[in-house]
Amino acid sequence: MKVTIFGTGYVGLVTGACLAEMGNHVVCVDVDAGKVERLKHGDVPIYEPGLEPMVIRNHADGRLDFTTDAAPAIAHADIVFIAVGTPPDEDGSADLQYVLAVAKTIGDHIDRYTVVANKSTVPVGTADRVRAAVAARLEERGVDVPFDVVSNPEFLKEGDAVEDCLRPDRIIVGASSQKAIRVLRKLYAAFNRNHDRMVVMDERSAELTKYAANAMLATKISFMNEIANIAEHVGADVELVRQGIGADPRIGYHFIYPGAGYGGSCFPKDVQALARTAHSVGYQARLLDAVEAVNDAQKSRLFTLLSKHFDGKLKDRTIAVWGLAFKPNTDDMREASSRRLMEQLWEAGARVRAFDPEAAEETRRIYGDRDDLTLVERPYAALEGADALVIVTEWKAFRSPDFGRVKSLLVSPVIFDGRNLYDPVVVEEAGIAYYGIGRGRSLAGHDRG
Ligand code: UDX
Repeated sequence: MKVTIFGTGYVGLVTGACLAEMGNHVVCVDVDAGKVERLKHGDVPIYEPGLEPMVIRNHADGRLDFTTDAAPAIAHADIVFIAVGTPPDEDGSADLQYVLAVAKTIGDHIDRYTVVANKSTVPVGTADRVRAAVAARLEERGVDVPFDVVSNPEFLKEGDAVEDCLRPDRIIVGASSQKAIRVLRKLYAAFNRNHDRMVVMDERSAELTKYAANAMLATKISFMNEIANIAEHVGADVELVRQGIGADPRIGYHFIYPGAGYGGSCFPKDVQALARTAHSVGYQARLLDAVEAVNDAQKSRLFTLLSKHFDGKLKDRTIAVWGLAFKPNTDDMREASSRRLMEQLWEAGARVRAFDPEAAEETRRIYGDRDDLTLVERPYAALEGADALVIVTEWKAFRSPDFGRVKSLLVSPVIFDGRNLYDPVVVEEAGIAYYGIGRGRSLAGHDRG
């Protein structure tokens, strides 16, 4: 099929590459000419396992192209995806200006039946607004071109996006037109090999499904962070509690890892946007507000522990940080817990020596050159002359460190394990003080709270 995708960000690019991989002819449109040029040369601006070779291969085979020129790209397509950003505006609602601008451009250029599929995460009711924006332009042009708008949210996880796209758990299609549903069935047939993964519903339900999925996952995390904080106070170990409850299949082991808080481009933004949507229709979303508040507090947890350990005297101390990205296998720093920690440390007059396998460049881009931030190339180089080691992101490379080496490099050996990677007993036996998240036992000798 002929597919056009607006937006070569995370979602648009992965979707475009995977649809091309399945034999479709895909054109990706972006307003950023520099980015389009880079992509044409096989230079993928984001780090996502498997994506770059897939882009290069499909571009070379003529199935995946990049352009800034919207008109021919729209005329080419049986189906046009909108995959542009919906950043939060001042009050946390999703800003739809980019989505609606694309809708208008589509209205300016379609000349035969086209399905307009929205992949951006958008508030309930956006499909109607997109439909109205396209129709308004057709009316201005004085033409009557048939089109349908469908909601087709994505569920890609950063770091696994290519895999998630090629082997989706489910494909949500919100549509009211049988003709549009047939077009999407044809497009997604290649992804439906073993069983039908397509769940068809109305547009509003599809839009809400996306928010509900992310809000549910964020709720599980905040719930576990709350249990962790209780565990810390009552002297229980949340890691044992986690395994104890995860064994119940109704709860499951997924997404119940306590830690330094959730980050990324989706959970913080989507929980907030869904709460705003609820408030805007007169419903106070108390649970969602609490999920957000717990996460916000959790992002400060590591700093609180550091501050207590050093009796509030962090000035001129050097803190080693392992892991900066909001999660492993990405260089994405959006809403990363490391940012809150570093900013609090700097505020307290401490210096940071940090290592991340992928996110150093992005960190440099965000914070620029500053005397109180040193980004190093190797994990142990972060520890040289440092007072403490803090684990913020659970990259595999941090799972089995040489604790003897850690101890010899740290000035006052102590680990703050923001992802509960280590056994507190093993760390303490190595002569290193240990703090985890919700591991009351490990705080036996320290002041709790
Ligand atoms: C998420 C959803 O998983 C995906 O389906 C949706 O399309 C986009 O948002 P992503 O943001 O890439 O994907 O990351 P995810 O792996 O879900 O992790 C989000 C955050 O939660 C990370 O900061 C991670 O460290 C944190 N997390 C995750 C926990 O703190 N505990 C857990 O148990 C799981």
